[in-house]
Amino acid sequence: MSVPTPNNSNLFLQQAGIESPIICGAMYPCSNPELVAATSEAGGIGIIQPIAMVYAHQHDFREGIKLIKSLTDKPIGLNVIVEKSVSAYEERMKLWMDIALEEGVRFFVTALGNPQWVVDKAHAKGGIVYHNITSRKWAKRALQAGVDGLICVNEAAGGHAGTLSAKQLYSETYDLGVPVLCAGGIGDENDMLEVLELGYQGVQLGTRFIAAKECQAHMDYKNSIVTATEKDIVLTDKISGVPCAIIETESVKKMGTHAGPIARMLLKGRKTKHWARTYYAILSIWKFKRSAKEGMGYKDYFQAGKSVERITSIESVRDIMEGFKGAIRTRNNIGNSGSKKLTSEMNSPLNKVTLNSSMHSQGAIQDA
Ligand SMILES: Cc1cc2nc3c(=O)[nH]c(=O)nc-3n(C[C@H](O)[C@H](O)[C@H](O)COP(=O)(O)O)c2cc1C
Repeated sequence: MSVPTPNNSNLFLQQAGIESPIICGAMYPCSNPELVAATSEAGGIGIIQPIAMVYAHQHDFREGIKLIKSLTDKPIGLNVIVEKSVSAYEERMKLWMDIALEEGVRFFVTALGNPQWVVDKAHAKGGIVYHNITSRKWAKRALQAGVDGLICVNEAAGGHAGTLSAKQLYSETYDLGVPVLCAGGIGDENDMLEVLELGYQGVQLGTRFIAAKECQAHMDYKNSIVTATEKDIVLTDKISGVPCAIIETESVKKMGTHAGPIARMLLKGRKTKHWARTYYAILSIWKFKRSAKEGMGYKDYFQAGKSVERITSIESVRDIMEGFKGAIRTRNNIGNSGSKKLTSEMNSPLNKVTLNSSMHSQGAIQDA
């Protein structure tokens, strides 16, 4: 019994064309090109967050991808937040996706709405789409749109967290016939092994990579992650209008974590919710950028998940990845020697999933 490595028919690894089942998840505003590149170079896959690329880090979108490609020739991914309500945003997102495809990106992580148009564009070029989900209901909808895999965002995740535990989400999705990955709460090697043993084919990490040397977030932000414990993570709807996991720093304590009554009314009202959400989304993009760049000098709205509990140092991506890869190797050696059986994964129906289409083959991932 072993956890995923490239040669034990892990479909996710084959689809993404990577060596280790670890995604550095898209993070607004923390996904700078150097962080994305470093994760891919270390054998996982880094995901570009397009608004972080062009707004927070001020790169022309294509030039930003070229910068990443100058740092690694390994596969990279693009995050597509599917949002139909603002047509200018959707048009821009489609343009970014076309540019990404032209630049050879073949792995896409979608979030929120219906990923159909992303699947259509990606599959036409031999690409792969994984969708972030928080329940079986959303998983089934994404599968109707033709996604190739699911990323189960649990209640421990940083950013917009889910409501279910990693275990509950696995039991809600393992039988859906596509690889499922775990997002949320993974701060160290043991966290990762635990969810791989449960049967997940891979992991998507966010918070751990903010406390990486290559991440350009302010040192106040990184230090807050290193010193925070799980109980410091609170959900607030005050910044973006929807619940978001942040560190409860002194200024968050003063500010409170609940949107005021008028904001709540506007966010719920049938006629007002559209523009209220748009207003909050734009405001939060601006606020999160300032916090990540200016640290305590501004307001400390530091998005992070419960994995902070086990993140105790700021390391290079390479060292972080070496730790995770080493843990997988060690576990597999123990498994191979027969001294420890990882029975949950052995019984997992996901082990029966096989690569069934040339479209999904490794060589198609990044061929530009
Ligand atoms: C600061 C921050 C920003 C994030 N921004 C995005 C985003 O723009 N798009 C997205 O799909 N997920 C976003 N996420 C979620 C991550 O991609 C990932 O799923 C999550 O961080 C995993 O949980 P963890 O932080 O416990 O590792 C964000 C997470 C964090 C911490």
